[in-house]
Order: sequence, then C-alpha cells, then structure tokens
Amino acid sequence: MLRAPREELADDARQGLISTPKHLPPKHLYDARGSELFEVITQLPEYPVTRAETAILEDAADAIVAAAQPDELLELGSGSSRKTRLLLEAMHRQGTGDRYAPLDVSVAAVEQAAAELAVDHPWLEVRGAIGDFSRDLGKVPRDGRRLVAFLGSTIGNLLPPARAELLTAIADSMAPEDRFLLGVDLVKPRDVLEAAYDDAAGVTAAFTTNLLVILNRELAGDLPVDAFVHRARWDAEAEHVELTLEATREVHARLERLDLDVHFAAGEHLLVEHSCKFRVPGIRAELAAAGLEVEQVHGGDTHGFALLLARRTGGADR
Ligand code: AVJ
Repeated sequence: MLRAPREELADDARQGLISTPKHLPPKHLYDARGSELFEVITQLPEYPVTRAETAILEDAADAIVAAAQPDELLELGSGSSRKTRLLLEAMHRQGTGDRYAPLDVSVAAVEQAAAELAVDHPWLEVRGAIGDFSRDLGKVPRDGRRLVAFLGSTIGNLLPPARAELLTAIADSMAPEDRFLLGVDLVKPRDVLEAAYDDAAGVTAAFTTNLLVILNRELAGDLPVDAFVHRARWDAEAEHVELTLEATREVHARLERLDLDVHFAAGEHLLVEHSCKFRVPGIRAELAAAGLEVEQVHGGDTHGFALLLARRTGGADR
C-alpha cells in the first residue's frame, strides 16, 4: 500500500544521511514548491528535454497510436500531463479509446492533471491511480488494450540495475497486444548538459535547495540552507549528471523528528539526483534484455531526445 510521504522521507533520510556519500531519492524533491519549480525548469532556455519531447510527439503521436490501437493510456509518473494530451487527442481522433489512467505518487498531481484535461477534453474518461510505479504497476486494473507511457526521461533518475528491474516489471505487466512508449534524453556535450542542470537564472539550484527546506519542515530540522550550494556534474563514464548540494562549510544540524544529528564536513556533498542520458542502441538493448522489442523510434540525435515504442517479445529473450 501507499506509504505516507513523510514516513517515506523519514526512512530515506535516516538511511541516506548517515551513508557515505550522503544521498536522498529524487522523488522527495516534488512537494508543491518543488513541482512548481520543476514546471519552470521545463521552460528554461537551457533545459531542452520537455521542448524536444513535445516537438517529437507533435509529429509522432498519430503513428504511435495507429500502431498501438490503445483502448487506454496508462501513464507512469504522470506529473502535469501536458504532453500526454497529444497522445489522448490522437486516440480520440482515431477512435481507438478515450480512457486515461495516470499513475503518480502525488495525489495532487493526479487530481490536477485530471481536472485540467477534463476542461477541454469532455470525452475523456480519467481513472487516476495513486502509487509508486516501481511497486504498484500490477495493481492498476486493466481494461482493454493498453499503451503504457513513461515520458520525460524520468527513467533517467534510475541507475542501470533499478532500470532493468523497472523495465522487467513493465514488460511483465503487459499483455501481448499492449505497447510501451518510453521517452529518453540523449547524451550531449558536457557544457550543454551541465548548463541544463545549472541554469543561469538559478531555478534548478532553487529546486534542489528546496529539499533542505522540505527536510527541515517535515522532520523538524535545522539544516542551514545558506551553507549549501547547488552543483551539477556530468560523469562522462557513467553517462549521468549528478546533482548535489555541497556544504560550503562544516555543518552540524539536527533532525528532531528522527532524533538524528547530521554532520557535513566542509566540501561534503549530498546527492539528490542522478539524471542518466541515453544512446538509442543502448536503451534498445536494455529494453530487449527486459523482454521488450522496439517497433518505432521517433526523434534521435538531431532532436537530442528519442521516443521508443516497444512490444513484448514472444519470450525468446527471457
Ligand atoms: C524529471 C527526472 C526527467 O532529470 O531532467 C530537471 C528532473 N532535475 N532538472 C531530469 C530535473 C533537475 C528531470 N526528470
């Protein structure tokens, strides 16, 4: 069942703040303020991910829907659902189905997405589900042929082992006639990637720093927000951007609700997010290893982003 966000944060903080290196999972970045800041990030000149995916979907939604013939769209980690409408409108136009099932950890995100979409899509039937896509996939009741969409390169938050596990769970949840649509941001030059995660206006810095505010509020903490700076570093070997908060001086803080003292040495980092970047052949191989065979690729290196449509393989690979 779904855990209360504060309890989950408490567990993750108890573990992550006494480990070396210190780390917290990125899902905790998305309180109301964090979700608002992420929306601003998607519109920054330095952050191409959302624009690229939207442009590709504008061209490709019809071909995707024509191949998938979905009765319903199940979207994982749906967030604000703005790009999703391109798929739903193509489904409606082609008359395949009018049902949308967003699955998100945030009740607010699911409710708001449903409300926003209902305004100009009166034909839409929304069946939102609250849950963590890495755990609750199997619990969403199925009703007909399904297009499972995982957009925005959100999969980039997962490192390869966790990715393999999730892709396998997705494949296992699919019927043979279902389709899986995955959006991945592609590898780019270091300066482009580091600017995308450390923008000139400081929005991304505000987004990660907000995690300290969340910890203080939820766990009765006294972490000094002004003692940390936002860092974004491209690891060319691992092919991910590492987002951290670096302590600029020694910090002694306390999280009262956890009865936990936290110490940062000057220069110590708190890892708040990995943003993995992909190459089309690599993600194709990851999908194949999970039992998913790619049918269509949209976008690619000229777009800096790719959308892959896949189906379950007959079982030859697994
Ligand atoms: C939502 C995980 C796709 O990694 O690009 C953007 C999150 N963090 N800027 C990404 C994010 C900082 C984003 N994802």
